[in-house]
Amino acid sequence: MKFASVCVLGMGYIGLPTACTFASHGLRVTGVDVNPRILDVLRNGEVHIEEPGLKSVVQEAFRSGHLRVGSAPVPADAFIIAVPTPINADKTADLSFVVSAAESIVPHMRPGNLIVLESTSPPRTTVDIVRPILQRSGLRAGQDFYLAYSPERVLPGQILHELVENARVIGGIDTASAEAGKELYSVFVRGEVVLTDATTAEMVKLMENTYRDVNIALANEFARLAEHFGVDVWQAISAANRHPRVKILKPGPGVGGHCISVDPWFLVEAAPELAGLVAKARSVNDEQPRYVVDLLRRELGSLAQRRIAVLGLTYKPDVDDVRESPAIEVVQLLAQEGAQLTAFDPLAPQVALSAERVDSLERAVSRAEVVLLLVPHQALREIDPAQLASLTPARVAFDCHSVWDRTTWARAGFRVRTLGAPSAA
Ligand SMILES: NC(=O)c1ccc[n+]([C@@H]2O[C@H](COP(=O)([O-])OP(=O)(O)OC[C@H]3O[C@@H](n4cnc5c(N)ncnc54)[C@H](O)[C@@H]3O)[C@@H](O)[C@H]2O)c1
Repeated sequence: MKFASVCVLGMGYIGLPTACTFASHGLRVTGVDVNPRILDVLRNGEVHIEEPGLKSVVQEAFRSGHLRVGSAPVPADAFIIAVPTPINADKTADLSFVVSAAESIVPHMRPGNLIVLESTSPPRTTVDIVRPILQRSGLRAGQDFYLAYSPERVLPGQILHELVENARVIGGIDTASAEAGKELYSVFVRGEVVLTDATTAEMVKLMENTYRDVNIALANEFARLAEHFGVDVWQAISAANRHPRVKILKPGPGVGGHCISVDPWFLVEAAPELAGLVAKARSVNDEQPRYVVDLLRRELGSLAQRRIAVLGLTYKPDVDDVRESPAIEVVQLLAQEGAQLTAFDPLAPQVALSAERVDSLERAVSRAEVVLLLVPHQALREIDPAQLASLTPARVAFDCHSVWDRTTWARAGFRVRTLGAPSAA
């Protein structure tokens, strides 16, 4: 095997499962992270991220002797960079983690190495930023070492499965680099491997998430139009999606997470004059928390002193991740309006809030006038309205996801107002 050892930089949602999967396929793997707390947790046989099956895979990787972790890279046949690429407050890409990770590899490089960037990055990052850094080693990309970009598209909650089964795009700075990447990942990837050039692979990742962002922005705009015309957007989307070539995503209180709400900005920053639609979609989705608050104000009048129970805080259902969560933004906006808020999330995410945080549905609703569903976690979708009615004086419910059946809830005494549906419904 050309690549018998691999050094993975970044032991997060992407790097840790990747490192363990290589280890379980017999490679000698070094996992590197600059956060000593994470290294301690891993060495103690624990994991710092919620992901089904990950803990036992990590423990097995250590037990087999194929995985070790450390705070700095070591010489290896291949290096994978899986560090964060967040956006700054001004929506520009923060590539500082990619830069420092690439710099940390330089002293350990030797001829024949393969370096793969996996972090979601603006177009040309691999060739314009990573390549010159790596060439400080005195080795030439394409002559002395291989260099590739390969995006990750796993779904949190199914990472270990999707890592292996998903199609993988590998873009080389030249054909030999793409082929080298294929050789490395073919150790475990069972999905199709698509070879291309590095910048195309970077674009592919950004196009995937931008496509979803634009599609959700369209659904949000349809929701606004539907309300205007007295139409139920949920019924309309469901009917439209019966068209064999139409797939409209769902509206909601906004788009969050560290991918879909972030990655389109990389295109906007790189070529603002060419990315007008992308930027517009971002702003439609970013306005959606404000739209939810406007909706409440339209229904309730002034929100000052109104007692609102907020249900759900994370950026999407059934994960404990609050990064860029629109629900948190709705809470902030409601607090600015002077509403008295109690907030409950069954997944108990760690987050500072401008609302009273409670640990049960019962406590959240006990004094509420209004119940507001922001995240359709399974436990919240399944609330029994008759039971809820016995826990709360509230008789108005706002559902931002159309998961509460309006007829059943009406029977239990609630007036349900659903985002994207006429208020009489
Ligand atoms: N999480 C996902 O579902 C997902 C999906 C697709 C793509 N991505 C992309 O993958 C990349 C990594 O995301 P993540 O969710 O794994 O991030 P993460 O924050 O979970 O983990 C990244 C880790 O890298 C470490 N790190 C930072 N600088 C380092 C350095 N110089 N050397 C070594 N370690 C360093 C951090 O301490 C952190 O533990 C990002 O670009 C992200 O956009 C993530």
